[in-house]
Amino acid sequence: MRLLRQIAHFSPPIPAIKCVVGGVPGWGGSALNPYAAVDGRRLYRPKPPIDETSAVARGVFAARLEVGGQGMLDQQGFEGRTIMTIANIKPAADLPAVDTEHTDPRSYPHGVAYMDGQYLPMSEAKISVLDWGFLHSDATYDTVHVWEGRFFRLDLHLDRFWGGMQRLRMKIPYSREQVTDILHNCVALSGHKSAYVEMICTRGGSPTFSRDPRQSENRFIAFAVPFGSVANKEQLERGLHVSVSEIVRISPKSVDPEVKNYHWLDLVKGLFDAYDAGGETALVLDENGNIAEGPGFNVFVVKDGGLRTPAFGVLPGITRRSVFDLAAEINLKAVAEDVSRSDLSGADEVFITSTAGGIMPVTKVDGTPISDGSVGPVTRRLMDHYWKKHSDPAWSTEITYP
Ligand SMILES: Cc1ncc(COP(=O)(O)O)c(C=O)c1O
Repeated sequence: MRLLRQIAHFSPPIPAIKCVVGGVPGWGGSALNPYAAVDGRRLYRPKPPIDETSAVARGVFAARLEVGGQGMLDQQGFEGRTIMTIANIKPAADLPAVDTEHTDPRSYPHGVAYMDGQYLPMSEAKISVLDWGFLHSDATYDTVHVWEGRFFRLDLHLDRFWGGMQRLRMKIPYSREQVTDILHNCVALSGHKSAYVEMICTRGGSPTFSRDPRQSENRFIAFAVPFGSVANKEQLERGLHVSVSEIVRISPKSVDPEVKNYHWLDLVKGLFDAYDAGGETALVLDENGNIAEGPGFNVFVVKDGGLRTPAFGVLPGITRRSVFDLAAEINLKAVAEDVSRSDLSGADEVFITSTAGGIMPVTKVDGTPISDGSVGPVTRRLMDHYWKKHSDPAWSTEITYP
């Protein structure tokens, strides 16, 4: 009923005229496809854009539904009969007020965001519900972490972010140097010494809600919140328990995996499958039935001292890249190649990689221990090197806090 009153409220002023509803000849069930007649003119069910005529029809339609709400809508019986006047619709005075500002009762992690030239607390960092980033996942993003007051491999994250925007034909009015400053400022203003820092470009929207993406004004948003990890402390020590879901990651022919994106419905379904199967996180498959990746991470298997990670249909993770760089430094062989389900279960060691947590051991797959079920020596060695690199100026950049 409230909706109906709103319809009446937002329509142009409607005179108190007699109106009639009835079935549309040839459309069958008139309960579903009514028409309205106002002062002898027949007005069909309105279609956008809403002009004054259809607004009148909307008012009539509302009136009809109000009557229907009282159980009087025997359509056949209504053909051609006056049922009520528009003036009978409840007056606008009964409507709730339209607030000019949104009051949000939720709480958010402490952090600082940047949008439209302003630095804001996380509680104020909002995008429009009309943004294509929200409506269609039409966005690219990147996440870099800060550890003990230093960005880790920021240049690689910026490269991937710019590559993604280019592939999606998006543009932002900031240079790479300006984005670096913005990210730095978000972290420094938040005060976080260890942070999860996201830069996002959404397709945005247009004032006319155009369906043409070329008419959208792309939006840039950045924020810094406390560092978060895929694995908690206990899982990092004893290794994660992972389940392989039957879900297939979206094909790289459909969504370019080189563009870091919010296409996550497959990954989230995988996560629920994993929880149902008693796992803590998930791995999903590629379209050939091999292991692909998980929600926010890549995967590696260790066999006979060599490393292997899936090559096909996965995001080229920066942590994955760091594992290749570290492996080269410590003379471990590492390749990007298909990893089958049996390669995974038969591995000597398994680990996953993500900016959200770094290199994280996996000690059980589908309820079965990997080797003896403890964190392996190669994984430990790589984890150790990885965290040491966080203070190396060749791999990290200092933040200047106020
Ligand atoms: C689908 C997917 N794969 C892999 C990764 C790991 O990438 P990175 O190491 O750059 O964090 C992520 C990170 O969010 C991801 O979303």
